Amino acid sequence: MKPEIVVTGPMYPATLQALDDTFTTHHLWKAEDPAALLASVRDRVRAIATPGGRGADAALMDALPKLEIISCFAVGVDAVDLGAAKARGIAVTNTPDVLTDDVADIALALTLAVERQICQGDRFVRAGKWPTSGFPYGRKLGGRTMGIVGLGRIGLAVAQRAAAFGMKIVYHGPREKAEGGTCRFYPDLVAMARDSDVLAVTCPGGAATRHLISAAVLEALGPEGVVVNVSRGSVIDEAALVAALQAGKVGGAGLDVFQNEPRVPEVLFGMDNVVLLPHIGSQTHDTRAAMGQLVVDNLKAHFAGQPLLTRVV
Ligand code: 8YV
Repeated sequence: MKPEIVVTGPMYPATLQALDDTFTTHHLWKAEDPAALLASVRDRVRAIATPGGRGADAALMDALPKLEIISCFAVGVDAVDLGAAKARGIAVTNTPDVLTDDVADIALALTLAVERQICQGDRFVRAGKWPTSGFPYGRKLGGRTMGIVGLGRIGLAVAQRAAAFGMKIVYHGPREKAEGGTCRFYPDLVAMARDSDVLAVTCPGGAATRHLISAAVLEALGPEGVVVNVSRGSVIDEAALVAALQAGKVGGAGLDVFQNEPRVPEVLFGMDNVVLLPHIGSQTHDTRAAMGQLVVDNLKAHFAGQPLLTRVV
């Protein structure tokens, strides 16, 4: 008999298909009455597969008392209550490494898009303004400083790409890292923001980094500075960012993630110095397929009594 699992939300179609083929699945997000669905399967379901944004809270874990594993379709597990999982002896897995390059690519794409006004230029040409008007000058990446907030796997990949564009790299995080090589480490984020032209946010989300990019950090980044976020919306104090952009205290922003996705502060829609993306950091066929493979393989390993491939808890 196939193990029974709950899938909490939509995933890459091929992944969902693989889950449906391998397990007896219950699609929670499609249920008219999710609580009733959970109640009807509570004695049988041993696993959850969940997209990063939905995660799994303690209430969901309590609704499924036979739960053994949560396989998360994301590297960021901030929406999973890891403490609750640990306390209940539930394993949690994620999808690291396979998405690093794509997310780092988007960080550089956003940096270029803001500094070289790519989207603004596109709108300018489409509006037929080229024959009659001049287009404002952009800012060169080479020779400028990128401050990386969180030099993990994605932060390092962003650093490598930015260095290839001729940028100087500095970084901030909880501690100095050997991987940082000769790049300057700033224990003080405000000090790093003051010395940075672009602040690239690549640290994990969650309580420890909530509103790390504060009004003070943004002010230190300054009117020529640009903030790029490919991590989680929660890391930036979004209200402070909007206020800083409105007041011209910060030069621009490239954002793939937001505090209350898919809701984006509408005031940003009218700003030309801002580039907004619908959380597509890892959204390529190749990467989503690889992430999905890890989601399925972790579950298969668990039910075969084998070591998990990418265990967080
Ligand atoms: C996904 C992500 O967009 O991996 C992460 O942490 O944020 C993204 O890759 C999302 O979580 C898909 O479920």
